Amino acid sequence: MTDLETFAKDVHKGLSAPRKHISSKYFYDDTGSGIFQDIMKMPEYYPTPCEFEILSLQGENIIRKLDFNGPFQVIEFGAGDGVKTRQLLKKLVDQRIEFTYVPIDISSKAIDELTANMRAHLPGLKISPMIGNYFSMMEELAGSPAPRLLLFLGGNIGNYEAHEVTGLLTDFRKCMNPGDYLLTGFDLQKNPATIRCAYDDPRGITKAFNINLLHRINRELGGNFKTNQFDFYSHYNPVNGEVRSYLVSLVPQRVHVQYTDKCYDFDRNEVIWTELSRKYTLGEIEEIASANGFRVVEHFLDCKAYFTDSLWTL
Ligand code: AVJ
Repeated sequence: MTDLETFAKDVHKGLSAPRKHISSKYFYDDTGSGIFQDIMKMPEYYPTPCEFEILSLQGENIIRKLDFNGPFQVIEFGAGDGVKTRQLLKKLVDQRIEFTYVPIDISSKAIDELTANMRAHLPGLKISPMIGNYFSMMEELAGSPAPRLLLFLGGNIGNYEAHEVTGLLTDFRKCMNPGDYLLTGFDLQKNPATIRCAYDDPRGITKAFNINLLHRINRELGGNFKTNQFDFYSHYNPVNGEVRSYLVSLVPQRVHVQYTDKCYDFDRNEVIWTELSRKYTLGEIEEIASANGFRVVEHFLDCKAYFTDSLWTL
């Protein structure tokens, strides 16, 4: 199936379900990746500066924990603009450690910009980028004996439901050998008001990020969504650590999608659930690691303890 066919199938399935849903993985076309860049610059969106701090101030400590004998690969899933990762890579380059950086991203525009940036800032870096979704890339990478550090930064794991995390970690394990490492970014539970502001910003950038899903359906699948007839709603539940985000139909309306040749009806105030951004406790992270066959080497936290990059090994 082509990527477009998969998108169409998922949109059809999600919009004909009794509780409508479109996966946040479809946020990241070139436009959406650009809006996410704007989110990362928002003062309310704390994960980016926190992880930047971790990789800048503790990069050396992270590297010291790696116990590779020779050259290795640093494979990053969902690399985005790579600005945070560069802080870690710079330390490896400065220490003349032999490695190749393999950034993987679904947006070719993001990969082109990242590659140009890396070449400009870290001329000594060996880089071999890959464009595509994690899952087909993981298949390509599986079964190789090359020693590896896998990176899954930014808190992307928060988008996965508990049962999906197991599948994701199984896929990561398939690209790993004993002695390899996985560094994962987890957003931690904190004052609920801080989290709420990060996911419901006053300038409406996060709203635009969600509305872009509807624009994307219009662009790629020939939908006729009237995007101003939808609002955005986001809610953090401090009891279970879940931020859930939604698009809200402001009027009763019918939308047609050419590609699926189907109509989808919306009641007034009916929602489309778009995203889960789960927040964790350190205890939960340790449970996830051990339940999935990993050993925690160390949690690297920012000074406010808002975020952790947790280093695991097989
Ligand atoms: C890129 C998945 C880490 O969940 O915080 C930002 C995406 N969504 N604002 C997150 C996002 C709304 C982000 N991740």
